[in-house]
Amino acid sequence: MATVVVVLAAGAGTRMKSNLAKVLHPIAGQPILNHVLTAANSLNADHTVVVVGHQREAVLDYLLKQHPTVITAVQENQNGTGDATSVGLAALATAGVTLAPADTVVVLAGDIPLIRPETLQPLAKLSHDAVVITSIFADPTGYGRIIRSGEFVTAIVEEKDAIDGQREILEINSGIYAIKHEHLVNHLANLSTNNAAAEKYLTDVIEAIADGGGKVLAALADADDVMGVNDKEQLAQANGLLSDRIAQYWLQQGVTMIDPSSTWIDATVTLAPDVLLYPNVYLEGSTTIAAGATIGPDTVLHDCTVGPSATVISSRCIGAQIAAGASVGPFSYLRPDAQLAENAKVGAFVEVKKSRIGKGSKVPHLSYVGDAEIGEETNIGAATVFVNYDGVNKHKTVVGNHVRIGSDNMLVAPVEIGDGAYTAAGSVITENVPPGAMAVARGRQRNILGWVLQKRAGSKSAAAAETHPQSDIFPPSTNSEEA
Ligand code: UD1
Ligand code: CA
Repeated sequence: MATVVVVLAAGAGTRMKSNLAKVLHPIAGQPILNHVLTAANSLNADHTVVVVGHQREAVLDYLLKQHPTVITAVQENQNGTGDATSVGLAALATAGVTLAPADTVVVLAGDIPLIRPETLQPLAKLSHDAVVITSIFADPTGYGRIIRSGEFVTAIVEEKDAIDGQREILEINSGIYAIKHEHLVNHLANLSTNNAAAEKYLTDVIEAIADGGGKVLAALADADDVMGVNDKEQLAQANGLLSDRIAQYWLQQGVTMIDPSSTWIDATVTLAPDVLLYPNVYLEGSTTIAAGATIGPDTVLHDCTVGPSATVISSRCIGAQIAAGASVGPFSYLRPDAQLAENAKVGAFVEVKKSRIGKGSKVPHLSYVGDAEIGEETNIGAATVFVNYDGVNKHKTVVGNHVRIGSDNMLVAPVEIGDGAYTAAGSVITENVPPGAMAVARGRQRNILGWVLQKRAGSKSAAAAETHPQSDIFPPSTNSEEA
């Protein structure tokens, strides 16, 4: 017997007050729709169809790129969940999928990001005419209410249509169902719009099945699992709940977190046991962190690889590779393709882009490193800039092994500094430096003797200078001159 999944994602999402389609809002780094499709995957359905409508270009584009096997259906006018289900089934038929009367159609909304595979399991084997996933909500406002007769559902009443007494019911419709195909065929076509929303409600199919003597089972689920996201408040709430779940998972896997509530880990991140996470850490995208690494506080890692026992403190890193034992921060900014080899160090107020920093090499303070290749055990002095941009093109700098770049250097690319070379502090290096050479590229110092006594006579500086003997103020010196 076949199973198909129909995901309803055509709604306007008006309450989000956003230019972004509701189902594309990210939670734990993935669009809401992705969480739904991932959970639905566990049903091993023969086909999945997603019904789109509002902001369809963006949703179709996303599906084509990330879920290319999904069939898509366009609901031109958002006439309700019943109409959307009809549109989904029609698209299946167009795609050549024929369903037998007893086949299972699983319908779920695209706006329930916390849904888990285990919650969908009651839908896997349909032993009744339909199964509705329900939940008990302390505050059921806005949801359809479940009308029961014993263990069976006889109707679902929308909040807007509820009469006194029905609004007090705490059992809600999750919007997730498994329905025998024949019942959808029989009842979808006859749905009326005679209700408060003037829409065709899928929920009316449930009532029609019960009215016709069919059995609709209610399967209770956790409230979190079925919460719908209709506005930004619910989006934030869902994000928090999923973050808690992800943190719990990694704690169970042996990750240490000082404050799980301020640790935000995308669903796509991988962590090893004994990773230590300080508060206010964001681990995003494809980030992978090896055992014994320490991250945070106050750190963002997006699409980064962090090796064993590396440390990243108070920093922002995007697309960086940080090898074993390397140290980053505090206050470093690593941009795409920053590669730190084993035990390399990038320190305070240092920005690195598309550069490789070799084993044990250090860029400890206040520097910009762009388009550079730095060898092993080299030290880059404080406030060095790799001058990589001539205003039109980017150029590369190559620095060898065991090099000592003095403080406050400008390395004007393209330029090469040979193995074991030194550069003097304050140098502007525009030409290659041979291995083992000392490059000095700066103006020579002039001391204009007695200048203050003459030009600032009577000042506190002059008085301070006058506390010294004449031989200190006018010493005999080769590179000094008189004012
Ligand atoms: C719906 C249910 C309600 C349930 C709640 C659970 C109905 C009539 N009501 O209400 O009983 O408690 O979900 O979250 O079904 N959609 C379309 N096309 C449309 C209308 C909606 O594709 O014409 C999609 C939406 O994009 C959304 C889903 O269907 O993903 C649910 O629609 P929404 O408007 O959010 O329904 P609720 O008012 O939440
Ligand atoms: Ca909803």
